[in-house]
Amino acid sequence: MTPLEVLSRRTIQAFRRAYGREPTTVAFAPGRVNLIGEHTDYNDGFAMPCALECGTLVALAPRDDHLIVAQAVDLGGEKCEFSVNTPIVPMPAGHWQNHLRGVAAGLLQFGLPVAGANLAISGDVPQGAGLSSSASLGVALGLGFTALAGEQTSDRRTLAQVAQWSEHHFVGCACGLMDQIASAFGQQDSALLLDCRALTVEPVYFPADASILIVQSGVVRELADSAYNERRAQCASAASHYEVSALRDLDPQLLEAKRFELDDKVYRRARHVVTENVRTVDAARAIAQGDLVALGNAMRASHHSLKNDFEVSVPAVDALVDCLNLVIGSEGGARMTGGGFGGCVVAALPIDKIETVERALGAFWQAKGMPPQLSIVARPSAGARLLSV
Ligand code: GLA
Repeated sequence: MTPLEVLSRRTIQAFRRAYGREPTTVAFAPGRVNLIGEHTDYNDGFAMPCALECGTLVALAPRDDHLIVAQAVDLGGEKCEFSVNTPIVPMPAGHWQNHLRGVAAGLLQFGLPVAGANLAISGDVPQGAGLSSSASLGVALGLGFTALAGEQTSDRRTLAQVAQWSEHHFVGCACGLMDQIASAFGQQDSALLLDCRALTVEPVYFPADASILIVQSGVVRELADSAYNERRAQCASAASHYEVSALRDLDPQLLEAKRFELDDKVYRRARHVVTENVRTVDAARAIAQGDLVALGNAMRASHHSLKNDFEVSVPAVDALVDCLNLVIGSEGGARMTGGGFGGCVVAALPIDKIETVERALGAFWQAKGMPPQLSIVARPSAGARLLSV
């Protein structure tokens, strides 16, 4: 059985137990890993994530009242119930229901239908790893609710925006749109070059002889939300200093020409965004040409910039990135991935190098006196979809 079949079986069985009937709609949306283009999405720039095989599955059936009744299979079957006929309000911060309430409220906000439904929800994205379990939940819920209401062709971009709206207004994270777009638009075997201003997605075929390796750092992301919001504010203040509507519009010449009177920290934040946008577009070209050497160089430079200019890495992540870059050499590269302050590291490398790298990782964890952390060998996977029931 594939991981998706296991997830699907588990969720549908839980649905039957909870509601004594079969679901009529099953929606799945994947997590994502970002290959390059970090902290660029909310600056209207470029990012290049790809969808993963793991994700969140939502099984649904209609009710004949206006209640949404949901069971969180992974939280010991915890249930919740609220009406879509009265204003939907958030629960206290950190409550899982906020994801569900936020998407239901977001759909209504965007003029999309939400009707009474029974739901069972379950996922297999590793939690707290920075692989967007939250975006996958938001997109799966949006797809499930709209499909249940007969909107089979719901616009993917709107689904991503609804999931982001939910993060902003109910979950309490002022995220960009990269994670939700990656989950909604994922394509088998292709990374996705996102233009976060035009909101366009260009699939870039990922070489058949290359792999993506994701390694958990073992550092739980802490203070990530407040630091994230602080970085966003610094980027906004740099954009206003340079009199551009977003840092996307800043080029290296202007960055230097108007550097005077700008706080050094804010200047370095802007420099990261400007250089990262260039690296991301270059990396897309490299991937399209199957050039892992150039991709690896861009990934290493991205890490350097995130560590020194944007200051969102932590020593444990740097050590892991260094270990991977040492063993991969010029045949690929590694960097931190996601918002930062812990979470995962991503590497691109030739498939035939995986075994050597995994041996080196074994020695790395042993030297640290830590149990080996989760590592996933991945290829870009398909995006959100309805499964047949
Ligand atoms: C988090 C956010 C994204 C993006 C990244 C950094 O994952 O959810 O929108 O800003 O951080 O690239």
